[in-house]
Formats: sequence, structure tokens, C-alpha cells
Amino acid sequence: MFTTFFKTLFSQRATALLAAALSAGLIAPAQAADIAAGADKAKQVCSACHGLDGLGVAAFPDYPRLAGQHVEYLRQALGQYQSGARKNPIMGGMAKPLTVDEIDNVTAYFASLPGPLKVIR
Ligand code: HEC
Repeated sequence: MFTTFFKTLFSQRATALLAAALSAGLIAPAQAADIAAGADKAKQVCSACHGLDGLGVAAFPDYPRLAGQHVEYLRQALGQYQSGARKNPIMGGMAKPLTVDEIDNVTAYFASLPGPLKVIR
């Protein structure tokens, strides 16, 4: 009885606090990725090695395909290149200058493309 009362009270206060923080601009709601901006970035930088279609380029047949890869996988890989948790001299240099938004956009772009990679459920 008392527990339920306090839980209700707490969740109402938490909701009110969250709403206040949101309206005061203290918390930014997650922004949807901008796939068009991601495509621009891919064209300028990534396409030389991964192909604009994310299916690779003939010059580097063993570079990984990105098309259709799970977006979380791509995001995690780029974050790890940035932090150094995943080491590769080429991709380390490519990932370093990317902002959080650029990573969101470019990974959303590659993940949206048709490709042979799929998540087995
Ligand atoms: C100069 C060539 C080159 C460019 C340009 C390049 N990459 Fe890569 N990328 C590679 C290579 C080589 C690997 C494999 C590295 C490894 O073994 O970890 C790789 C791996 C990756 C991976 C991990 C794939 C996997 O299956 O684990 C991601 C994600 C990635 N690149 C994204 C990008 C993005 C996004 C861009 C553009 C901002 C980009 N790359 C630009 C060469 C390149």
C-alpha cells in the first residue's frame, strides 16, 4: 500500500522533472539521423574504400562491406576506432575526425542500403 503510494508519487515527480528539463532545453531529445547528410559524408570520404553503395570497391576487394550492416554494429565499430579499442591505422585516421552526429548519419546511411549482410533473428 505505502510502497505503491511512494512509487506513484515518485514516478509522477520524475515525469514532471523530465518534462521541465526537456522544456528548459536541459535535455536534448535524441535526434533522428540525417541519411542525406550521411550520404554526402560517404561520398566525400568513405566511398573511396567502401563504395558509395557500401558493397566495396574493386581496388580493395578485402575491405569490409558496410551496406545493410546493423546500424549499432557500425556505430560501435566507429566508436572503437575513435577510442583505440579497435586498432587499424587506416580506419583509426578515418574515424577520428567524425563527430557524434556524423557517425549517426553515415552509419544510418550505410545501414539503410541493400546488401548481403543481415542480422539472423
Ligand atoms: C582509405 C580506405 C578507407 C576509407 C576512406 C574508409 N575506410 Fe572504413 N575501413 C577500411 C578498412 C581497411 C577497414 C578494415 C579495418 C579493420 O580490419 O579493422 C575498414 C573498416 C570499417 C568499418 C568496420 C567494418 C566491420 O565490418 O567491422 C566501418 C564501420 C567503417 N570502415 C566505416 C567507414 C566510414 C563510415 C568511412 C567514411 C567516414 C570509412 N570507413 C572510410 C578502409 C577505409
